[in-house]
Amino acid sequence: MQRFDTTDALREQLKVWRSAGERIALIPTMGNLHQGHVSLIDYVRPHVDRICVSIYINPLQFNNAVDLERYPVTLDADQACLQDAQIDALFLPDAKAMYPYGVDQSVQVTVPILSDSLEGAFRPGHFTGVATIVAKLLNIVQPDVAVFGEKDLQQYLLIRRMVSDLLMPIDIWSAPTVRDVDGLAMSSRNGYLTSSEREQASELYRVLSGIRIQWQNMTEVCDWRELEQSAFMHLQQHGWRPEYISIRHADDLTEPTPDSGPVATGYCVLAAAWLGNTRLIDNIRL
Ligand code: PAJ
Repeated sequence: MQRFDTTDALREQLKVWRSAGERIALIPTMGNLHQGHVSLIDYVRPHVDRICVSIYINPLQFNNAVDLERYPVTLDADQACLQDAQIDALFLPDAKAMYPYGVDQSVQVTVPILSDSLEGAFRPGHFTGVATIVAKLLNIVQPDVAVFGEKDLQQYLLIRRMVSDLLMPIDIWSAPTVRDVDGLAMSSRNGYLTSSEREQASELYRVLSGIRIQWQNMTEVCDWRELEQSAFMHLQQHGWRPEYISIRHADDLTEPTPDSGPVATGYCVLAAAWLGNTRLIDNIRL
């Protein structure tokens, strides 16, 4: 694994690989790596010759200063993890490289509609930050393929849309969510949970799985709002502060139509909820 701290050094190496006809994958991250991140590497490995992972904690996507300040930085462990995972390039840009004119003066990329609901509604500006940094990283690396986790489904859909609309010649793939044994989706933010909260945290996945069972057992016209509402109240009664639990189409996040029922395919349920001071998100296919 080679480590690159500057865009120029990385591009020089990428040029060598590309002129040898090698296929390159990019996996953008914010570090504090776990099995979820490693799964993206393993997912793409059979399809490419070189894998580049970037680590950059992007200030523009944090709508909350405290969240940015406490975001875990674990560079030594991350480097050891990526060494084990046998990637080819680790890109560690600094703020000057990613925002040459400063964060406030940056050109910003906004994906309409997809950015507005769910996460976007509760984290204003978040997805403009994500789209902007991912556009910059894709421009630097110009990979053949970039991989994102289904854990952040809305993020994946929005990046896919951005790349398509900006005519970037890059394939955008998604890889399945990796979970702990009790079902909790792995996340850098899980580290904020106290031990009793950690025990409680898998309830979110159980609630989503409960919705899936009820959805699949619907025989008549599906009252999907009732499924969302009862799950929402269940979490509230168990000490959570849910922000949304929403059944949407997994391709474009549109809501089910009133007669969506047993025949409706392609739907998923997405949720965000606070447990103490930690905000967790998850989603599963129905
Ligand atoms: P980060 O939270 O570090 O996640 C990096 C990638 O890992 C994302 O594509 C995310 O969906 C994926 N990922 C996280 N947890 C996962 C899990 N349990 N299973 C599978 N994949 C998982 O997402 C970001 O960083 C940033 O927004 C970024 C795209 C890097 C832009 O700054």
